[in-house]
Amino acid sequence: MSQSVIQVDKLSKLYRLGEVSTGTISHDLNRWWHRVRGRDDPYAMVGQVNDRSRKGESDYAWALQDINFKVAQGEALGIIGRNGAGKSTLLKILSRVTAPTSGSIKVKGRIASLLEVGTGFHPELTGRENIFLNGAILGMRRHEIRQKLDEIVDFSGCAAYLDTPVKRYSSGMTVRLAFAVAAFLDAEILVIDEVLAVGDGEFQKKCLGKMTDVADSGRTLLFVSHNMGLISSLCKRVILLEEGRLSLDAPASEGVMSYYTHGRSTPYKADFSNRQRPLSGHGATLLAGAVEDLSGVAVAEIDIRSGFQVRMRYRLETDTRTGPFPNFHVTDSAGNYVFVTAPLNTRLLTGSGVYDAVCHIPGYLLNDGTYFIGLALTFMEKGVKVAFFEKDALCVNIIDPIHATLDSDRNGYSGHVPGPIRPRLDWCVSQLS
Ligand SMILES: Nc1ncnc2c1ncn2[C@@H]1O[C@H](COP(=O)(O)OP(=O)(O)OP(=O)(O)O)[C@@H](O)[C@H]1O
Ligand SMILES: [Mg+2]
Repeated sequence: MSQSVIQVDKLSKLYRLGEVSTGTISHDLNRWWHRVRGRDDPYAMVGQVNDRSRKGESDYAWALQDINFKVAQGEALGIIGRNGAGKSTLLKILSRVTAPTSGSIKVKGRIASLLEVGTGFHPELTGRENIFLNGAILGMRRHEIRQKLDEIVDFSGCAAYLDTPVKRYSSGMTVRLAFAVAAFLDAEILVIDEVLAVGDGEFQKKCLGKMTDVADSGRTLLFVSHNMGLISSLCKRVILLEEGRLSLDAPASEGVMSYYTHGRSTPYKADFSNRQRPLSGHGATLLAGAVEDLSGVAVAEIDIRSGFQVRMRYRLETDTRTGPFPNFHVTDSAGNYVFVTAPLNTRLLTGSGVYDAVCHIPGYLLNDGTYFIGLALTFMEKGVKVAFFEKDALCVNIIDPIHATLDSDRNGYSGHVPGPIRPRLDWCVSQLS
């Protein structure tokens, strides 16, 4: 294992909520007074859990609490979590924009960070002046920065505005320039918060390419995003923050799955029969669902080469006049639809009772990655009537062991073939000469 370039120990950050200026000096003095006497921080004790949806009793909230992790040189680490989980706070502390309340961070190497639109830029200075300013902050010499200038300007696509003050840039242009500066200047560690969303589609693609290069070239990348597709394709490892705490440090596929399922256990197998509000309508109720291997055993992971099956158990009441159509809705980890199964005609199965609908999904249809399966039942009689539709009811991880081993052979290769499907199609190759 290569040496770690970032080490975070017992890191916590306490923020005061509400009006920033009231009482802070007295609180700061009180905190300092406790500290010199070797006592605990008095506000730390009253600090509430960082949950944005709950109105707490205290004026203080832990944005981060007891965070521990290491990042090895050359690693691409994804940082995920819901709004307000503490991701940006963590990146700000690592980039030394703000100080931790307690705990320590050790960083080896120069960090270039792209935190929020415009951080690191002086609004009155022109694009060119800001490039030199950022380079100087990273400890680069003028001629070194000059060598990179063309690449930066070219990548950002802002050549015409290079000598215009940054305050006149649109937010998209600011991000373009800021990304180019962070990615092309000589930093060993690149820290990027979710800012790419501001750029247009073409620029996002360009940034993704550049970040892949950064990850492949042995530089270290820390990347925050809500786009799980980007996280899975860029990062091998993720940390998941929940209410300011690090709840998972795991391979990307596992982390993404946990992000989507809120850490619920056995999402590949679910019992819906005890729901307070049953999933039912038009005389049908969803009882259970499972992802299974071909022998009918519920499993969380499927080898891409073998097929698997999805089972949905439902109950029909006596009064259904015609039978329903079961269907499965498959989405990828970024929430994009991959397919919905075509309706299976079960019109004749009308009697009351419990039914199992099993759909066989062949090997080499879904690509490796995490997929979510929605379970639905519809009646088609005078239009479509949905009895129930449980979106993302089940989760399956498709594993490609062949590419996983290639991964360790070829340094830097991400081991993931892009796209949600990887069909085995018939080929015909003929020799022409
Ligand atoms: N300067 C500040 N003063 C007070 N509270 C703050 C400050 N900055 C952040 N917080 C609080 O800290 C918590 C974590 O915020 P943070 O910006 O790190 O979340 P995040 O995970 O980046 O969320 P998002 O996905 O919305 O970007 C939130 O509850 C936020 O309100
Ligand atoms: Mg944020």
